[in-house]
Amino acid sequence: MIRKIFGESIGVYTLPNAELYNDEFIKFAYYSKDLVENTDIFKLMKESNAPKDMNDYLEPFIHRSHLIPGYPLKFLDDVMWALKEYTKEMGQEFNQHNFPYLAPYVSRAWTNITPQGDYIGSHDHKRFDAKFSVSYYPKFLPEQGDLHIENTDLKVNKRIYPCNEVPARERIEGKKGQAVIFPGYIKHHTEINKSLEDRISTSCDIKYLGINSDLPPPELVNELTSAFQQELTTNFKL
Ligand SMILES: [Fe+2]
Repeated sequence: MIRKIFGESIGVYTLPNAELYNDEFIKFAYYSKDLVENTDIFKLMKESNAPKDMNDYLEPFIHRSHLIPGYPLKFLDDVMWALKEYTKEMGQEFNQHNFPYLAPYVSRAWTNITPQGDYIGSHDHKRFDAKFSVSYYPKFLPEQGDLHIENTDLKVNKRIYPCNEVPARERIEGKKGQAVIFPGYIKHHTEINKSLEDRISTSCDIKYLGINSDLPPPELVNELTSAFQQELTTNFKL
């Protein structure tokens, strides 16, 4: 179902196969957290006191969870299903209908663990050039911190701190098995997790490829994917 928020289309969908992968997702979230925090390379980078380089090094891994063994791939099928519903509701039958001009794919995926008292601050996914972004909850308890869609056009102080002049943000109540889809440029954040348990969410970005996009040689893409796996097995090992 689409909700119109600040003139933007925000899709909220219960994913059909949620029960098949929710537990797997929770396990994977802790596994990938351990992977980046407790592998030798992370410790080395921490000791070398080079936060900028560290992020450059870690981001490709943190944001490419879907290429790491153990990631619940069935979830990606459900994301494509939700995208289809979303674009259909917007009157844009993107998927097969527009192939080979617009072919959607998941470009990045990652998991977030937000402990008690913490929250995810205001951000968007513009930096990754995401056409659409997805937030999904494999579990959700009351008071774990609902997602807020911000009135992106407002100045940052007015978005974060509600003011009387204009609505600054709108809450989307979290629910286990629920995916929220929104354009990648939309600013969003979460409330503080006031529950006793970790809040676990997973995100992914969707891009479109088409015959008018840059089409890198498939062998190069294969080589890079193998190089990713190689780096992963060499450097990111618990
Ligand atoms: Fe986000």
